Amino acid sequence: MSLIRLAYASEATFKAKPVEKGVEPNVARILMESRRNNAKNEIVGGLYYGDDQFFQYLEGEEEAVGRLYDRIARDERHRNVVILLEEPIKQRTFTNWSMKYVPLSSDVNRFLDSQGMDTFRPSEFNRSQCEEMVTLIRNSSQEGRVVSHDGARNDRNKQSVIPKGILMGLIAAGICLVGAMAYVSTML
Ligand SMILES: Cc1cc2nc3c(=O)[nH]c(=O)nc-3n(C[C@H](O)[C@H](O)[C@H](O)COP(=O)(O)O)c2cc1C
Repeated sequence: MSLIRLAYASEATFKAKPVEKGVEPNVARILMESRRNNAKNEIVGGLYYGDDQFFQYLEGEEEAVGRLYDRIARDERHRNVVILLEEPIKQRTFTNWSMKYVPLSSDVNRFLDSQGMDTFRPSEFNRSQCEEMVTLIRNSSQEGRVVSHDGARNDRNKQSVIPKGILMGLIAAGICLVGAMAYVSTML
């Protein structure tokens, strides 16, 4: 019984459907399949999807990971699958995650900025960038958030917490209130 870890990069073949909220539908389907099968096969890991690229990290029994990778590599939802990391490990590190999904994220964007990359191109990651990516996914607490990679980038430019419409409404209500008070005071 020997455990291994495997990371690969690939390019999505589907055109990402724009989603205001939630996970891109093709990715959501992949996650559903992954969680169902991986739990059965005692495989854990994480998936990152951004700029039409996948980065996936798997840990488990050598044979189970090998079988899964063969299946994944034949999947037509992605192409140009490149193994970035494949080696024995002593124990699993993604405990409790049959497939952790990081849809986000300001952390990854910061990492890309620090590496001088303006888009997510995991197939070009060297070993240490690959390790860094695994650490980001492992430590991410973004599971509840449903912001796309691009959305997260745009978020950086957003200053206001209150939506613009509501803010304008509040200002208008304030002006009306002051006007009404001024009018009432002239009546007294
Ligand atoms: C980027 C990507 C990642 C995937 N990751 C997994 C995975 O971790 N586990 C899994 O069972 N299937 C994964 N799949 C799906 C498999 O390729 C395959 O469709 C699926 O395992 C078939 O499951 P089924 O026999 O239960 O229908 C992935 C597919 C893609 C495109």
